[in-house]
Amino acid sequence: MGFKITSTGHYVPSLVVTNEDLTEFLDTSDEWIHKRTGISERHISTGENTSDLASAAAKKILEKRGISASEIDFIIVATMTPDASSPSTACLVQSKIGADQAFCMDINAACSGFVFALSTAAHYMKSGLYQKGLVLGADTMSKVINWEDRSTAVLFGDGAGGLLLEHGDEDGEDCILAEDLHSDGVRYLALTANQKDVQNPFHAKEESQPTYHLEMDGRGIFDFVIRSVPKTIEDVIKKANLEKNDISWVIAHQANIRLLEAISKKVKIPFSRFARNIATTGNTSAGSIPILLDQMIESGEIKLDSKEKVLLTGFGGGLTWGSIIITL
Ligand code: ACO
Repeated sequence: MGFKITSTGHYVPSLVVTNEDLTEFLDTSDEWIHKRTGISERHISTGENTSDLASAAAKKILEKRGISASEIDFIIVATMTPDASSPSTACLVQSKIGADQAFCMDINAACSGFVFALSTAAHYMKSGLYQKGLVLGADTMSKVINWEDRSTAVLFGDGAGGLLLEHGDEDGEDCILAEDLHSDGVRYLALTANQKDVQNPFHAKEESQPTYHLEMDGRGIFDFVIRSVPKTIEDVIKKANLEKNDISWVIAHQANIRLLEAISKKVKIPFSRFARNIATTGNTSAGSIPILLDQMIESGEIKLDSKEKVLLTGFGGGLTWGSIIITL
C-alpha cells in the first residue's frame, strides 16, 4: 500500500528582525547582507525553544488534516538545536500536542536534517508497520549564533515546518520516488556548534578552550555546495528514472540566494523553478525546506494530490547533503 503526504504546516516566531535592525549592534549593512545572501529579514525567537516551534507547526499540520494527535504513530524531528540532550525535541513535541500513541526521536544532520528525517520516516512507512507519521524540521539558530560575529549572525533565522505521511486506503505509489544521501565527517570543522559540557574532575586539562557558538567556514561551505549539490540533484533524478523537465520545483535549503543561482546554472534547471523564501526567513537550518514547501502549498504554487514531482535538496554541517524526490 502506498503512502502519501496529506498535510503540511509551518511556524515562525512573530518577531521580525530586519537587516537594518542588525546594524544597530553589528558592523554590517542592509546592502552587504542583501547583495551577498539575498536575505532582508528573519524571524527570531524571543523565548520560544525548538520544541515550541516544532509543536506549533505540528498543530497546524494536524488541524489542516482534521485528525487528532492520538492517531500519530511516530514523530521525527530534525534539529541541530534541541531544547536539551534529553528528552528529545520529538518527545517534547509529543507531550505538547498530546500524541500519546507515537514513538518519537530526533535526527541531527544540521541543515540537511529534514531530508534525512523524511528518508527515515519513508522507510518506516514502507515497512507497513505504521499508518501515520509526522516529520518535522525545527531550529532555533538564534540560541547558538555568536551575535558579535557579523559573518554568521546575519545569516540565520528561527522556524519550523513539517508534513504528515499517511498510508492510503487503496493501492498507490509511494510519495518518495528516490533519495540520495551523503555525509563527509572528515570535513566536520566547516560548521560547528557545541553544547556546554560539565567539566568532570578527571578531565585532562587542555590549553585551548572549546567554543560554544556556531562557527562556520562560509567560503568553504560555499565551494562544497557548488561541487556536491548539483551532483546529488542529477543523481536523484537518474535514480527516479526521471528527466529534469519532470521536476516542477526544486526546494533547496535556503542558505544563500547566490548558491541557489549557482546550483540552478550548474544543473541546468531554470532558476524560475527554484522555490525561494530566503529574503524573509534567512537560513532556518532544518526548518528551511519544510517551511518553504508549506508556503508553496499555501500560495497554491504546489498542490497536494496533483502528482507533481518536487525535488528537495539539503546541505550543511557534518558535512551532510542529499536529495529526495517527492510526488504530491
Ligand atoms: N557585513 C559586512 N561585511 C561582512 C559581513 C557582514 N555581515 N560578513 C563578512 N563581511 C566581510 C568580511 O569580513 C570580508 O571582508 P574583507 O574582504 O575585508 O576580509 C568580506 O565581507 C567578504 O567576506 P566573505 O566571507 O568572503 O564573503 P562571501 O561573499 O563568501 O559571503 C557567506 C559569506 C554569505 C557566509 C557565504 O560564504 C555563504 O553563504 N556561504 C555558505 C554558507 C552555507 O551555505 N551554510 C549552510 C550550512 S548552515 C548549517 O548547516 C546549519
